[in-house]
Amino acid sequence: MKTALITVGSTREYIDPVRYITNESSGQQGMALIKSLIKNNFKVICLHGYLQVKPIVSKKISYIFTPNAESMLKAAKKNKNVDLAIFNAAVADYRVENYQKQKIKRNKNLTLKLKNNPDILKTISNISSGPQITVGFAYETNDVKANALKKLKKKNCDYLVLNYPISKNNIFNNKYNNGGVFNKKGHYHQIGNVTKTSFANQVLRHILKAENE
Ligand code: CTP
Repeated sequence: MKTALITVGSTREYIDPVRYITNESSGQQGMALIKSLIKNNFKVICLHGYLQVKPIVSKKISYIFTPNAESMLKAAKKNKNVDLAIFNAAVADYRVENYQKQKIKRNKNLTLKLKNNPDILKTISNISSGPQITVGFAYETNDVKANALKKLKKKNCDYLVLNYPISKNNIFNNKYNNGGVFNKKGHYHQIGNVTKTSFANQVLRHILKAENE
């Protein structure tokens, strides 16, 4: 049985005990991908941030809670020897330079000094003993294909799944997704506006078929 690593949900970077920086992601697409991986006979290691959906229960899935970028990277490095790695999590790009242990009292204005978080996908896809296949996700709002292609190269992944909003239809916290898949050569396979379940099945089918050719 093959093993897949997947990152899902959103990470958080706390500013003080009650305030944090995060990204939009319900975890719906991630859970649909896990379901599809199980159907395709994979064992799954899921590194998850915060989820707004119920995780699927199965003996074939092990969940590791990684609340922030640094813990997600550490767990990804530990679990990098897999057949397939899918990076679906919305990782908060920045964390505060100085975490305040005590709740910050509301004042007039507050200036936060932020520093860059590690790029988990980029780090893992550049490790030669890492996953056989790496798949990244990109949500883009403008010049969607050009930006996705830049990301594919920058992050050195084998496939990049592009998501983009269609008129008036937000894909966050929604049953539907929209987009397609780029391979390493930059060839694009359009999937379109379908349910997240169908999107997950089509992404995996496309990648597994291409890998078996
Ligand atoms: N990603 C990651 N670690 C990060 C940021 C992103 O692993 N610190 C992964 C995501 O899981 C996704 C891909 O990289 O698979 C693209 O995420 P995105 O947020 O679009 O990438 P950024 O590099 O943050 O690009 P942008 O400047 O557009 O925000």
